[in-house]
This record gives sequence, C-alpha cells and structure tokens, in this order.
Amino acid sequence: MSEPDFGVAVGSRLKTRLLGRPLHFFETIDSTNTYAMQLAAEGAAEGTLVVADAQTGGRGRLGRSWVSPAGVNLYCSLILRPPIAASLAPQINLVAAVAVADTIAGLDGPPPAIKWPNDVLLSGKKVCGILAEMQTRGEHLQALILGIGVNLNARLEAFPQELRDKASSLFVVTGTPVERAAFAASLLTHLEQAYLLWLEEGFPALRAAWERYAADLIGRQIAVAAQGEAISGTVLGLDTDGALLVREQTSETPRRVVAGEVSVVGGYQQGGTHDPRD
Ligand code: BTN
Repeated sequence: MSEPDFGVAVGSRLKTRLLGRPLHFFETIDSTNTYAMQLAAEGAAEGTLVVADAQTGGRGRLGRSWVSPAGVNLYCSLILRPPIAASLAPQINLVAAVAVADTIAGLDGPPPAIKWPNDVLLSGKKVCGILAEMQTRGEHLQALILGIGVNLNARLEAFPQELRDKASSLFVVTGTPVERAAFAASLLTHLEQAYLLWLEEGFPALRAAWERYAADLIGRQIAVAAQGEAISGTVLGLDTDGALLVREQTSETPRRVVAGEVSVVGGYQQGGTHDPRD
C-alpha cells in the first residue's frame, strides 16, 4: 500500500477538536514517547500528537522494546494534561485500550479483546501496546504521555521469532491491508470521546465497555507478577477505579490488583467464556 506522506494524510483526516492538535510527524525517530516527554516538559499543549513512520528505539512496558518497522504500523504519542490526581492517572491505560478496541471493532475482522490492563488482542495475539508515562510535581500531575503502537500491516516476519506466537498485526489476522492514516484518525476520534467521558464522569462510565472487551479474561485463572509478589486466582472483573479484581483460593475477599503483568493459565484463547458472577 502506498501512503506517500503519512503525516500529512493523518492531519488532513483528523476530525477531533483536541487530540492531534498540533501534530508533529517524523519519518524516523527513536521513540515518539521520548520526544513527547521532552515536548511536555517544555510546556507543549494538551492534545499535542507525535507520530512517526518508524522508531529506532520504540519503548514498551516493563523496559521492553517495541518492534517498530517503517511504513506499516502506527506509532504515536499524545500529551494529555488531565486535571486529576496523579493516583488516578494509570486509568488512562484502560481508557485508551477501550478506544483502540472500539477502533478495531469498526473494521472487518474478528472482535478485539483486551487483556488487563491495556493489551489489545486479535485472535488471541497482541496487536496493540500502550505505554503511559507521567510527569509530576509533588502530588500534582503535570502531563500524561500516552504512547500507542498498533501493528496494522506488519507481516509476521517483521517480529522476532520469539514473539511470533504472541504478537500479530491486523493484516496478518484479517488478510486485509489497513489504511494507516484513516485508522489513526478514527483512533483519535474514539480516544477523544473516551477521554472526555473519563474526565466528565470518571472511569465507571467506561467500565462496562472495558469488561465487554475483556469478557474472555473474566472467569479465567491468571497469575500476576505484581511489584515483587506473585498473585494467582480467578478474574472477577474490574473495580470502579479500574483495579483488577481477582479471587484467590485463600480468601473470600477479592484481591485488588493495580499494577502487574498478567499471564492467563493455559494461554489466552478468545472465544470461550464462563463468568464466575453468573
Ligand atoms: C507495551 O509494551 O505493550 C507498550 C508498547 C507501546 C509502544 C508505543 S509505539 C508509540 C510509543 N512510542 C514508544 O516508544 N512506545 C509507544
């Protein structure tokens, strides 16, 4: 697919009021998140968007790298300045995951799923990663840098061998190429709606949508590596603030998990669900 000027194409398709204004485009950058962090520290306005065609040092969660080949995927970072306590900022991960899933759900293909907190999967494989980073002064949240990488048209060979059973792209799953600028504009529209709803009404307004996309996780046995601790149990759903509720064998009271890496016992299979709350 030929998209001669990706940055211009994204700009001309934007239908948002806030997000993507202004837009900074790079053919190649180390990391859109790193650049957006610099812009935010220099006072860049809320809504500022950094988009790149390729990243040489794409960053993932937990210090991992993010595979970022040129010309095929979406790599972008937004500067947000929500007037909220820093303690609530991690909820942006869940808000963004819902927006990405809504965007993918609008295309032909299997339904997307969310794996807590913010991986978006298609046919059981990760197609989107979200990296939210904060700038704070004391307790005060100065800026939230929301980095989103979506594997749109990458072929499986673009991923290192060890990721090929876990990662995929929309093209690999559906066989249909995705027009990147149209996808980016649609994502920003969904994200703006979700972000403004979150600011107005808080996370409870988005919780049902998140749980619908995570339906395959609910009722599953999981293990969570959380801040030096191993937690295992059955997923019950989300608390009103976005914490994952897990029933451990040893306790009747659900355990709240606020951070960590979830692995699903037996692997993440989209399709079969059984909800322990039924
Ligand atoms: C994850 O590990 O799942 C998060 C991956 C986040 C990748 C995106 S790509 C755009 C932005 N720039 C980065 O360096 N990382 C994020």
